[in-house]
Amino acid sequence: ALQASCVPNIKPRQRFTNQLQPRASTYKVAILGAAGGIGQPLALLIKMSPPVSDLHLYDIANVKGVAADLSHCNTPSQVLDFTGPSELANCLKGMDVVVIPAGVPRKPGMTRDDLFNINANIVKTLVEAVADNCPDAFIHIISNPVNSTVAIAAEVLKQKGVYDPKKLFGVTTLDVVRANTFVAEKKNLKLVDVDVPVVGGHAGITILPLLSKMRPSVTFTDAEVEELTMRIQNGGTEVVEAKAGAGSATLSMAYAAARFVETALRALDGDGDVYECSFVQSELTELPFFASRVKLGKKGVEAVLSADLQGLTEYEAKSLEALKPELKASIEKGVAFVQKQA
Ligand code: NAD
Ligand code: LMR
Repeated sequence: ALQASCVPNIKPRQRFTNQLQPRASTYKVAILGAAGGIGQPLALLIKMSPPVSDLHLYDIANVKGVAADLSHCNTPSQVLDFTGPSELANCLKGMDVVVIPAGVPRKPGMTRDDLFNINANIVKTLVEAVADNCPDAFIHIISNPVNSTVAIAAEVLKQKGVYDPKKLFGVTTLDVVRANTFVAEKKNLKLVDVDVPVVGGHAGITILPLLSKMRPSVTFTDAEVEELTMRIQNGGTEVVEAKAGAGSATLSMAYAAARFVETALRALDGDGDVYECSFVQSELTELPFFASRVKLGKKGVEAVLSADLQGLTEYEAKSLEALKPELKASIEKGVAFVQKQA
């Protein structure tokens, strides 16, 4: 059952894009991998965000046209393009938030871990540049496998002596977005009311929606819990198969990533009531990184919320134990990748 006293009072989402009173545009956001399937719609959504003053778009190719196109939108932010490693440092200087969707996506039949060999190096190189040029920025890692790439980023930042665990985030917002959508559909709920915490990691069984902790409190049969949990865990694969070789989720991911950027900007702006699920350094379990609801503030993660893991159903408790070995192995793979190159 929902433990009302343990669940933080989350304000209805205040999307900057919907606000009647525009706030001052002061925040600088960079997207690395900005010409890609996620990067382009994400850049558009961030271009629509009034608090953003500067939007820096980086990719190894094709980013000039994306920036020229976006720069014609009459919204406040100035859009600049940066192509290739020689322009990366200039892209990053002074950034408040750096979002990283660079890397290859899955094709049908692949796991996210199959992307490790290519994406690990991409994330390592990009985070090295973040460490050198804007070590205080919030870093949002989208590139898969998130369960490993966040650990890679942490190791790189440690090696550079600038690791602040409060500012490194694996973006798992899409799991929450999917959970909210699928549960609202199944139970005929108003979407705006639905908030399902999703914990663990971002791959297969490591994605664990906590239906017993959702708002509003809803009763499910065991079969419904199983069906919804599996659909949420397989949401990425559902899209990969539907796209049949043309990539993975890009539009829903851009939406989710924009939501997470707006959350971060609200926190940076001093809103004291900002919560979101994210894969962060954590002491909630014995694993060094774990996705859960976190409270965000000006300096990043202010608190990792433990309430969601208390009073789990038997199904959730078993699923939590079952996901730990895979998540642990993925994290260790990321750590080892950086350490063996040191
Ligand atoms: P894409 O291939 O369409 O775009 C990737 C972009 O990254 C390309 O424009 C490419 O040029 C760029 N890139 C490659 N190497 C780079 C480098 N060294 N520096 C900068 N940019 C570089 O792929 P996509 O669909 O946008 O997906 C990107 C990543 O996001 C994939 O790894 C995918 O698995 C992941 N993803 C994560 C989530 C999530 O929930 N966290 C959801 C969807 C996709
Ligand atoms: C997703 O959840 O959509 C992403 O992680 C992309 C993928 O490979 O499934």
